[in-house]
Amino acid sequence: MTFPNLFKPGNIGACRLENRIIMPLYPTKYAREGKVNSKLVEFYRARAAGGAALIVLDCPCLDYPRAYKASHQLRIDTAEHVAGLQQLLAAVQSEGARAFMQLNYPHEKAVAAGFPGAQPKGETWVAPLATNMSRAEADEILEIMARGALQARQIGYDGIEIQASYGEFISQLLSPRLNTRRDDLGGSLENRSHFLIRLIEQVKKMTGQDYPLMVKLVCEEFVSGGLETEEAMRIAGWVEKAGADAIVANAGNKQTKYRIIQPGDSPLAPLAYLAAQIKSVVNIPVVAIGKINQPDVAEDVISRGQADYVAMARALLADPDFPRKAESGMPQEAIRPCVACLEDCAGPGVEGIGRCCTVNPFAGHESIWQIQPARQKKKVLVVGGGPGGIQSALIASQRGHAVELWEQTDRLGGQIQLAHLAPFKEEMAGILTYLINCLNKSPVTVRTGHETNQSQITAFGPDAVIVATGSLPGRPPIPGMDADFVIQAREIYLNGPPAGDRVVIIGGGDIGCETADLLAGPGKRISVIEIAPAVLARMKKIPKERLMKRLSDKGVEIYTETQVVSIEEHRVRLKKKDESEFNLEADLVVIGINALPHDPLLHDLRGSVAEVLAVGDAAAPGNLGAALRNATEVALKI
Ligand SMILES: Cc1cc2nc3c(=O)[nH]c(=O)nc-3n(C[C@H](O)[C@H](O)[C@H](O)COP(=O)(O)OP(=O)(O)OC[C@H]3O[C@@H](n4cnc5c(N)ncnc54)[C@H](O)[C@@H]3O)c2cc1C
Ligand SMILES: Cc1cc2nc3c(=O)[nH]c(=O)nc-3n(C[C@H](O)[C@H](O)[C@H](O)COP(=O)(O)O)c2cc1C
Ligand code: SF4
Repeated sequence: MTFPNLFKPGNIGACRLENRIIMPLYPTKYAREGKVNSKLVEFYRARAAGGAALIVLDCPCLDYPRAYKASHQLRIDTAEHVAGLQQLLAAVQSEGARAFMQLNYPHEKAVAAGFPGAQPKGETWVAPLATNMSRAEADEILEIMARGALQARQIGYDGIEIQASYGEFISQLLSPRLNTRRDDLGGSLENRSHFLIRLIEQVKKMTGQDYPLMVKLVCEEFVSGGLETEEAMRIAGWVEKAGADAIVANAGNKQTKYRIIQPGDSPLAPLAYLAAQIKSVVNIPVVAIGKINQPDVAEDVISRGQADYVAMARALLADPDFPRKAESGMPQEAIRPCVACLEDCAGPGVEGIGRCCTVNPFAGHESIWQIQPARQKKKVLVVGGGPGGIQSALIASQRGHAVELWEQTDRLGGQIQLAHLAPFKEEMAGILTYLINCLNKSPVTVRTGHETNQSQITAFGPDAVIVATGSLPGRPPIPGMDADFVIQAREIYLNGPPAGDRVVIIGGGDIGCETADLLAGPGKRISVIEIAPAVLARMKKIPKERLMKRLSDKGVEIYTETQVVSIEEHRVRLKKKDESEFNLEADLVVIGINALPHDPLLHDLRGSVAEVLAVGDAAAPGNLGAALRNATEVALKI
């Protein structure tokens, strides 16, 4: 076997696991009114069927209504809610995976405005729970959590995970920086660990010693004055002694979330060294977590003895079949890779879908999208070999249609060939390799270097044409746009950056700011102009904070609420919100504004081909995730 350690069965306490792959908590937020629904069930069924040995499911509210976050959080307090959870458990367990419940309590409590340390949250004010609960409240919460564990056992979960990381309630108590208490829950490390250790003991007492218990432990906060590994190693010893069956070696807190959910600027498996340190002081299994998204990396972590298990959230979001594919010896490029973009899986996800995945159009659609054979087999022509075209060709072909794909250039991939060239986006190339590999293995006939027009298409005689011809860069109507020192951002990725130290970038969206990141450096003066009040309006929090930090470190100047009046001889004339005008000298002006659909064939072919459909950017310029989802949806219907 290629990965002999990764696919060795193991045990977490009394819980037998088929292999060493755990899916850690990924809050889907799919529940509505706290209830399980088919979207949630099928999302997790797919990950269980794909071979994850253990899944830590969405965390339910243990103290309804007092500690209830929102309708998307699972409830556990009525027979109806419990019945739904049992349906979810049955789906996961019937596929051979184990399911744990995460035991957590909200890290904030509602307080009056003006309360010391209060922060506004919507209409209300909140303060950290760990430092603002009374001693009696702490005991009450501990009992509530322990009762939650007992209920988990009664409902049918295979075990529980205590959340003591992610900047959540218990990790706030553990932190020397965040815990300012002066009672027996604050001060010394023993005191700060008191709640966690007592909780483990109480859970074991209530659920029975044989009920599996894992602790997701913060092992380093990465902030000055925060919890460090040496302290975490001592806590780990106490955690083991109190009866825990495994430790997940997590890190970071709410201020350092990029160390927990690592974006593109992080190496692979950046926290595995912490697992190794914890492993050196305990005898229970240790789980490594964080950007372990390739089978050889996972195998390496285990075979080098850094950890006994690996936890992977986003890799299984991107490809639920990752474990089965790796176990059966399929090559790396057969696994749809998480590209660490933190786009569609993060924050609220995508409008109308919620949390899903940029590279996996089926994530969040498992309950409604199935690849069924087409009732009528058709001759389908896909025009355009970008991600939208490739994906629609693959799905149409899997449904039994005879599919041909024509791409005008010599290479497949469309704009994705450019997307991975910006700093820290190298991993984006993985999805292109994956799609091309799928295409090579499929019956789709591919013709590259084949620019297409209406007469060629009608001569080919397709029953259906999928127009996947992408987008053209937007061109704002600014006087002076035709000057020879004005170029489109895409040209920089295609041909390399032209000479010029003073660069003005028009447009502060993803493409404008990423281009600034690419061009900035010593001796350069890069300015980004954005008409809206803020740049990067569509980028999610973690990648946005990282990119903004790099731009600030590199001295990139950002002008928001600023309009371009004209481009003149090596300068750009700008107008602020207060109507005052100013100039920026420029050797180069780069246009990075919204793209426009490139869809002439859509109109040319209407009337001459029975079915003509646009997908991806040709339908509506967006991003990779939108292109793949839209292409899938169209190809499922054709
Ligand atoms: C620099 C850059 C960075 C980006 N970064 C990201 C990112 O980080 N995340 C993200 O989600 N999205 C990103 N995007 C956007 C994303 O790449 C696009 O939304 C996506 O590629 C659209 O896919 P598509 O298949 O619809 O179109 P395209 O990728 O544009 O593919 C269209 C294809 O059609 C071909 N074609 C056009 N006309 C014809 C014709 N007449 N005959 C034959 N072939 C034709 C083209 O050559 C091209 O290969 C980025 C885009 C750029 C330019
Ligand atoms: C959008 C998102 C939300 C997350 N929320 C939580 C959370 O509430 N609690 C938690 O313990 N981990 C949470 N995680 C972290 C994951 O459990 C995991 O530690 C992290 O994603 C790194 O692993 P990965 O690289 O395999 O995804 C979240 C991850 C993502 C992507
Ligand atoms: S959206 Fe991006 S980061 Fe999230 S799972 Fe998918 S590929 Fe990975």
